Amino acid sequence: MAYPTVRNRRLRTSAALRNMVREHAVTVNDLIYPIFVTHESNVKHEIPSMPGVFHWSLDRLEVEIQEIVALGIQSVLLFGIPHEKDAHGGPASDPNGIVQQATRLIKQWAPQLLVIADTCLCQFTEHGHCGVVQYDEAKKRADVLNDPSLELLAKTAVSQAEAGADIIAPSNMMDGFVAAIRQGLDEAGYQDVPIMSYAVKYASSFYGPFRDAAHSAPQFGDRKTYQMDPANAREAIREADSDVAEGADFLMVKPGLAYMDIVYRLRERYELPIVVYNVSAEYSMVKAAAAQGWIDERSIVLETMVSFKRAGADLIITYFAKDIASWLNGPRS
Ligand code: PBG
Repeated sequence: MAYPTVRNRRLRTSAALRNMVREHAVTVNDLIYPIFVTHESNVKHEIPSMPGVFHWSLDRLEVEIQEIVALGIQSVLLFGIPHEKDAHGGPASDPNGIVQQATRLIKQWAPQLLVIADTCLCQFTEHGHCGVVQYDEAKKRADVLNDPSLELLAKTAVSQAEAGADIIAPSNMMDGFVAAIRQGLDEAGYQDVPIMSYAVKYASSFYGPFRDAAHSAPQFGDRKTYQMDPANAREAIREADSDVAEGADFLMVKPGLAYMDIVYRLRERYELPIVVYNVSAEYSMVKAAAAQGWIDERSIVLETMVSFKRAGADLIITYFAKDIASWLNGPRS
């Protein structure tokens, strides 16, 4: 009888040993919590497809911010749901727009909490696209105009930095968006404000619940001319290469779970911090199955998070951030 000479199980025989050789861990410092802010007053409206996630009006937001701070979470990603939209997404760069107002208030209530401003036009355009759109009657097709969109994005980023945003997170995937925003920020005196680029963003069905939440579903067409084809991986490298060359400070991959290979490829190739976005449908699916009693929410979520870290992510944007923080702070199980 030949016994194996290589014994991998030796390092798994007790909890202390497993703790000692554990390669990855999630900490509260890794988490970014998305928040949806809206106009009007006295709004705390739960998003039906995202139980536990709310639209907040500014007069009710402070309690939520204090809770986030008390949990030890260091950063929030702000999405605005404006009451006005127009053809060009003008309200996105309004100095008194919803994201700008929320940023000012949060920095007043919790100066240490990092505010990451989502910089995109889709919530602010009537048609729901992420840039300036021209409709071609003959072709019956709407085209998103790359270069005119860049100017509006840069203006939006500057107005967010003026309001106190610590990090600008542009998500519209137009060519040259990082360079345009970097130049805009530098010219306005915000050389120190970093850009967290949604470098690799797929045209994904995993955004469905978010689009309901942000009222940002495109009214016609889709985002396939500017977001990436889920079938492509090499193209992700080209996207990220150009963002790095243009001055991105963080690289984001979105969605998360179905795109772990992309996180890994970026980790192997770049030294910049890698961010993964655990998007809305990834949240909704877990919530729905947990509500049925089909899965154990806490262990599924923690396993998912450590898997993001193992794949190479430094930071995780997740709607579970508050839950995770409270699990990490609480007694170990
Ligand atoms: C667009 C944007 C989207 C998400 C974040 N920013 C949706 C889209 O591209 O249609 C999705 C996030 C999620 O699903 O949680 N600015």
